[in-house]
Amino acid sequence: MTTPTTKSGLEDVVVSTSEICFIDGDRGRLLYRGYDIHDLVDHASFEETASLLWNGALPKRAELENLRKALATQRRLPPKVLTLLRSLPRKSDSMDVLRTAVSLLGIYDPDSGDDSREANLRKAVRIQAQVPTLVAAWSRIRKGKAPIPPNPRLSLAGNLLYMLFGKKPSPLAEKAMDTALILHADHELNASTFAARVTVATLSDMHSGVVSGIGTLKGPLHGGANVGVMRMLLEIGDVDRAETWIKNALAQKKRIMGFGHRVYNTEDPRATHLRRLSEQLGREAGELKWFEMSRIIERVVNAEKGLHANVDFYSASTYYTLGIPIDLFTPIFAVSRVSGWTAHCLEQYSNNRLIRPRTDYIGPEFPQTFLPLEQR
Ligand SMILES: CC(C)(COP(=O)(O)OP(=O)(O)OC[C@H]1O[C@@H](n2cnc3c(N)ncnc32)[C@H](O)[C@@H]1OP(=O)(O)O)[C@@H](O)C(=O)NCCC(=O)NCCS
Repeated sequence: MTTPTTKSGLEDVVVSTSEICFIDGDRGRLLYRGYDIHDLVDHASFEETASLLWNGALPKRAELENLRKALATQRRLPPKVLTLLRSLPRKSDSMDVLRTAVSLLGIYDPDSGDDSREANLRKAVRIQAQVPTLVAAWSRIRKGKAPIPPNPRLSLAGNLLYMLFGKKPSPLAEKAMDTALILHADHELNASTFAARVTVATLSDMHSGVVSGIGTLKGPLHGGANVGVMRMLLEIGDVDRAETWIKNALAQKKRIMGFGHRVYNTEDPRATHLRRLSEQLGREAGELKWFEMSRIIERVVNAEKGLHANVDFYSASTYYTLGIPIDLFTPIFAVSRVSGWTAHCLEQYSNNRLIRPRTDYIGPEFPQTFLPLEQR
């Protein structure tokens, strides 16, 4: 039983101040450091967005070039991390692999043990550079193939697709991936970011914060929802079946992945862009069925439940059309969210107080009389 002193799921509870991200759930607005997500999608790259999140201002040309270089030259993984990936069961869950490998990256990080702001900024950039390589390397290693070495001349988004597929992506594919990365970069105090902040608020290290974030993002109520969406689309299989299928699912009171949000009461502004990308990529690939099925599902769920598509709904068909294996959808969400997690870790360190809330005790009455083992 909850009492007036508790809020189930901490809904609407404000637990800290932050300069990083603002969401207006009623108007469907999302801003990073005061910049509207729509402007960032139209004018910025993911690298620029990450710099904005870490440093608080858009980078000047030279700053952006330096960051691009730092990201591009630190993409390679320590050999021991590749050895770990090769030693894991090939059927391992990709988020478990990512969580485990980032933990190992922390051990081999050149700044390990140094938690100064400068070292933490370097760690943020390094983790951001390495995580795409981890995801792509795992996608190859588990199929018995050699990882494709990163290409320092490509953008982070372009290189991610290159390392996954072994060929340079089309301009539309690269743009779509870059946009998806911008859209997933930060989202205020979502569950995984909160977990990351709680971790570093004990003055634990940044890799531990990111590991907490990955473990939290994995769940189907958070980043794992995009996988659930694609499984649903594949189960429906055909545009003609979509309407009946989704109506039946709603009649059976099923939770539809990719819909609803704790903060937005209107369209998630990220979904607006992902819907467009899903359609554009579908046209380029000559396969619009996943987009068309998604449109039908969206219309029915909106009409019958008043629920709107969230970030995960159209990212599913977007990633699938890009050729990304379904179980890598959530790791790719993590590739992007590393920027937000690390920005929040930096902010937490800069004005830290241990995060230690309370529970409202509703357990057995006390004091209970202790019975020795033989009398129970
Ligand atoms: C995101 C989410 C976890 C938010 O949860 P929340 O704020 O705790 O909201 P609740 O789970 O309490 O849901 C409130 C009501 O809306 C309904 N609802 C919310 N999301 C729903 C969905 N995706 N499908 C069907 N019903 C849904 C719930 O059944 C509940 O109805 P009830 O009051 O009649 O029981 C929830 O909307 C959800 O599970 N969505 C699907 C998973 C997903 O897409 N996650 C990614 C989020 S970006």
